Amino acid sequence: TAEQGQYQTGYEFVVVANRLAVNRITTPDGSTGWQRSPGGLVTALAPIMTSSEGAWVGWHGAADESLEPFDHEGMHLHPVALSEQEVEYYYEGFSNGTLWPLYHDVIARPLFHRHWWDAYRRVNQRFAEAAGKVAAQGATVWVQDYQLQLVPQMLRDLRPDVKIGFFNHIPFPPPGLFAQLPWRHSVMRGLLGADLIGFQRESDARNFQRAVRDRLGYYIKSEQIYVPLEDETAAPLEGFTADPARGTAPRQLSAPEDGTFRRSEAKAFPISIDTDRIVELANDPKIIARAAQIRAELGNPEHIYLGVDRLDYTKGIRHRMKAYEELLQEGKLQVGTHTMVQIASPSREGVESYQRLRDEIELTVGRINGEFDTMGHTAIRYLHHNYPIEEMVALYLAADVMLVTALRDGMNLVAKEYVAARKDGTGVLVLSEFTGAADQLRQALLINPHDIDELKAAMVQATHLDRDNERKRMRSLRRQVVSHNVQRWAEDFLRRLDQL
Ligand code: G6P
Repeated sequence: TAEQGQYQTGYEFVVVANRLAVNRITTPDGSTGWQRSPGGLVTALAPIMTSSEGAWVGWHGAADESLEPFDHEGMHLHPVALSEQEVEYYYEGFSNGTLWPLYHDVIARPLFHRHWWDAYRRVNQRFAEAAGKVAAQGATVWVQDYQLQLVPQMLRDLRPDVKIGFFNHIPFPPPGLFAQLPWRHSVMRGLLGADLIGFQRESDARNFQRAVRDRLGYYIKSEQIYVPLEDETAAPLEGFTADPARGTAPRQLSAPEDGTFRRSEAKAFPISIDTDRIVELANDPKIIARAAQIRAELGNPEHIYLGVDRLDYTKGIRHRMKAYEELLQEGKLQVGTHTMVQIASPSREGVESYQRLRDEIELTVGRINGEFDTMGHTAIRYLHHNYPIEEMVALYLAADVMLVTALRDGMNLVAKEYVAARKDGTGVLVLSEFTGAADQLRQALLINPHDIDELKAAMVQATHLDRDNERKRMRSLRRQVVSHNVQRWAEDFLRRLDQL
């Protein structure tokens, strides 16, 4: 029929993410162009995009600018436009002022504003329509992350023929915290529009299942959620203004009758890194030389502690600095013998909590350096910049101890990159148990970053491990990261989606 023929020209595989797979760059002669984003997600999906006639739908990062679709390095890119107000309400507001802190254990206070929610719905609808327009009949559409949680159901309403996957890159909060969200029902229903909903950790998948069971009452068997069809047709997500009045729903105790439900699976798929690429860089003589140069520039200390984070309050940067400062005060570490490098990449600078955090960190760094620096050596070398991956790998090679002290983190890929780069088997990873990575990297020195004494003890222990112990741990960590790369993550997810 005409209806069926309508979508035959589209793409078989569509990725939908808040950010497009490219960043705008300005070349030295002043002209602008695009460069493929260095992140793991793009790296993992780019080969699938080029081999399977795929398209990527996302925001190109500027406000009030609409761009025509364009191609870049074999990828078909479909930019979604956001107005300046939408950047403020949908991106800085609901995504990063409401959902981000709520989903990270309310480390910062989430703000609930109805006009932010309205913009979130509106923008999610725009992404769903953009995806619906480019997907071929029966295509696979993979929606990414917390900025787009309504897209799966909105897309299903528009295009019941496509297969829909969703992956949440950040934690999913315990049901008691999620319950604070005034629009919790809509968010759950938005996600349940997907055939497969992926999470970083088992506990994230369980948190979601429990929220669905308690609040919507749906029947759940192992990872399968039985979504009643009547809920979908009675109240399509578009045009939804408020959540249904009910607070909790009676639990369905047995599987509903055939033909009255659709199944959605909620399951853990821990993401990883492009391990081969990191190993290749770690073997590059230029990068090895650069690592030696970094050590020399820091005055050849015996031990370098390294932190690499987006400047975000979830990362526990202050806890790390507090521990380090106390160790210097107590004389357990000495400037000259020890130094700390903290890379803090600029992030979400329009959001107030991020501005405040930056002020606090920079005040702390100034205080610590003012007290402990010598003419020749610094206590903390703090860099508020983005660096290319080559420089990051040189830093990983230069650092004896990697500090990952996040208070909550979906995965933490920096931990995995450090491990991948340490091909000679040396180096110590101090890792917060509140990261997704801690579920897999069991041979790290696992710590609770809230426990400053424990963190201090681990920082000291890290520089005193005997070589055998250090190598044994690193070898085991590397086995994990080498056998589970991001390509495998994408394959596992897409294979499961295909089976459903
Ligand atoms: C996290 C999120 C991503 C996000 C990234 C950078 O990793 O899971 O969705 O893209 O942070 O944040 P930004 O707000 O700059 O996109």
